[in-house]
Amino acid sequence: MINIALPKGRLGEKVLDIFEKSGYDCPAIHEQNRKLVFENEKNGVRYFWVKPSDVSIYVERGAADIGVAGKDILLEYSPDVYELYDLDIGKCRMAVAACKNFRDNPERTLRVATKFPNIAQNYYSRKGRDIDIIKLNGSIEIAPVLKMSDVIVDIVETGTTLKENNLEPIETIVHISARLISNKVSYKFKHGEIITLEKNIKDFCAKRKDI
Ligand code: PRP
Repeated sequence: MINIALPKGRLGEKVLDIFEKSGYDCPAIHEQNRKLVFENEKNGVRYFWVKPSDVSIYVERGAADIGVAGKDILLEYSPDVYELYDLDIGKCRMAVAACKNFRDNPERTLRVATKFPNIAQNYYSRKGRDIDIIKLNGSIEIAPVLKMSDVIVDIVETGTTLKENNLEPIETIVHISARLISNKVSYKFKHGEIITLEKNIKDFCAKRKDI
């Protein structure tokens, strides 16, 4: 049995669709109930839904053999897992954004509000810029509007949240997408099953790109 951690929400639905169409369907997961774990003995999969930012924790600790996590989470937390494949979905970018009238003064410490302190710190360290990180857990866009920070480092997908709060992106740090990840021990001991699954998913995604 391969244990698979799926990210709850819109991205997870797309991920499940890819897995099912790659030969790993699971009728039980479509039944309306409050169960959290679903299995299909016939094709050897056991799925469970977890918070997207927790997928890599389940995989790193071996509770899941494989999972799908955003590159943002992998960069921020550096979990000890194998990154197998870029699924090319859940695409967005990690960007620096500020109020439209913001003028940077490089002489001053930059106040950066973010949910991703490691990504922000690495980015500004590479530039040799002193920053003061303000770690928030959501609604990051409010921080510069209320003058608590100079800029934010956050995910930009459509850009709507920035626009509606009079903010604008000023730099792109990195492009993000969903990645198939594997537990390192599972990759060794369930090697056959995992590489077959990886290949089936790659084949399905390659076909989908041709369409
Ligand atoms: C994310 C991100 C931005 C928004 C970007 O927030 O932090 O706020 O989506 O999307 P857009 O460019 O399409 O507007 P999320 O919905 O995860 O909620 P959060 O504010 O709680 O982080």
